[in-house]
Amino acid sequence: MNYLKCVSCNITYSTSEVRYRCDCGEILEVKITDWNKLKKNLNKKIFDDRLSSKEFPYQSGVWRYKELVLPVSDKYIITKSEGNTNLYSGLNNNKGFQKITSFVGLQNLHLKHEGENPTGSFKDRGMTVGITQAKVLGVKAVACASTGNTSSSLASYAAAAGLKCFVFLPKGKITTSKLSQSIAYGAVNIQLDGDFDAVMKTVQKVCNEYKIYLLNSINPFRIEGQKTIIFELLQQLDWQIPDWIVLPGGNLGNTSAIGKGLFELKKLGIINKLPRIAIIQAEGANPFYLSFKTGFKKKFEVRARTVASAIRIGNPVSFIKAKKIIEGTNGVVEQVSDQDILDAKAVIDASGIGCEPASAATVAGIKKLVGKKIIKKDHQVAGILTGHILKDPEITLNYHLKKLSGYNSRYANSIFETNTRTISREIRDFLDD
Ligand code: F0G
Repeated sequence: MNYLKCVSCNITYSTSEVRYRCDCGEILEVKITDWNKLKKNLNKKIFDDRLSSKEFPYQSGVWRYKELVLPVSDKYIITKSEGNTNLYSGLNNNKGFQKITSFVGLQNLHLKHEGENPTGSFKDRGMTVGITQAKVLGVKAVACASTGNTSSSLASYAAAAGLKCFVFLPKGKITTSKLSQSIAYGAVNIQLDGDFDAVMKTVQKVCNEYKIYLLNSINPFRIEGQKTIIFELLQQLDWQIPDWIVLPGGNLGNTSAIGKGLFELKKLGIINKLPRIAIIQAEGANPFYLSFKTGFKKKFEVRARTVASAIRIGNPVSFIKAKKIIEGTNGVVEQVSDQDILDAKAVIDASGIGCEPASAATVAGIKKLVGKKIIKKDHQVAGILTGHILKDPEITLNYHLKKLSGYNSRYANSIFETNTRTISREIRDFLDD
């Protein structure tokens, strides 16, 4: 039986208990018990065979790795065949992608698009597991605080599971696209004054008081699902290890998940070395970066401000877990400006792939680390794009309409308002360009 262990004082708890924190106040992680059995039964071939499987639940890019994720009876599993997301590169005639490789100054680049999950973000990988655990525990209602993607994902999976769902949102601080998703999927949407960090505190109190199951990434089962991003990415690379894995950091759940997944694959003998991990934060929401700069001697809390609303987080819940990941992978934490994020987003969008602003931090960060020669030009880099282009249409439109005050729309594309008399002139100009 797997168990829960405190990340700080090592006290253990049963997975059948509803618990997110140790008595000491720190968060918990799922520990796998039976490594010998897993080593005997699991290998690359099993996962590769399941890639072509139509059998439930292995068609899901999360449950393909079920033994490492949540070894429960299939009768509890709530899945939407999440995962199976594309790993893009400049290979196979992808001219669009070459815009990204020249932007970052690096040829050997892959981008895994987690925005291609059912509700448009990587959160679905954690949510299928969190909601399945909710079914195992027999809870009636679930909740989360969110900058918009967790709430969209939870609302959708709760609907699939027939559970009551409450989402707590910082009022006026999430995109209309994300707000419309959680409303439409049928969650009770509760908008509160204050920022994400304040709402996160409130939801923990509410969940304890009303015995509602909390499905933020503080819930260790969410992390178990999100580990599969790295399992699937490495499988797509034929289990070759890139030099770097790069992703944005907000509440730092995903950092924790990807690192945990890597450590477990190594323990299992499926990989024999680790890539370095680079976490990218927005300059205005950079507590993890500030802490990294002190060698993690100090922990910071900031009032978060950035155009990338998904990572507008000033007091990350998974700080300790993420710190261990950076230390254990010889990783780095970098910060990028909002202008860097907007430029990177415009280039990713124009490549034909597209993503939301928080995801563009990945590419902006790669560019910055290449510029600083921390990532070398001959390194192989795999970045994670965390959310879909349609998650924040306001920013995209305002950028191209040059209406983002204080920012330069240097990669803006053309939008014409014209009439049938002059239309041919504009098309000719564009063709001749
Ligand atoms: N990218 C996107 C698109 C996100 O939605 C988030 C987090 C992150 C990156 C950062 O991931 O928090 O695991 O470090 N969104 C959360 C939410 C907080 O409520 O949707 P993290």
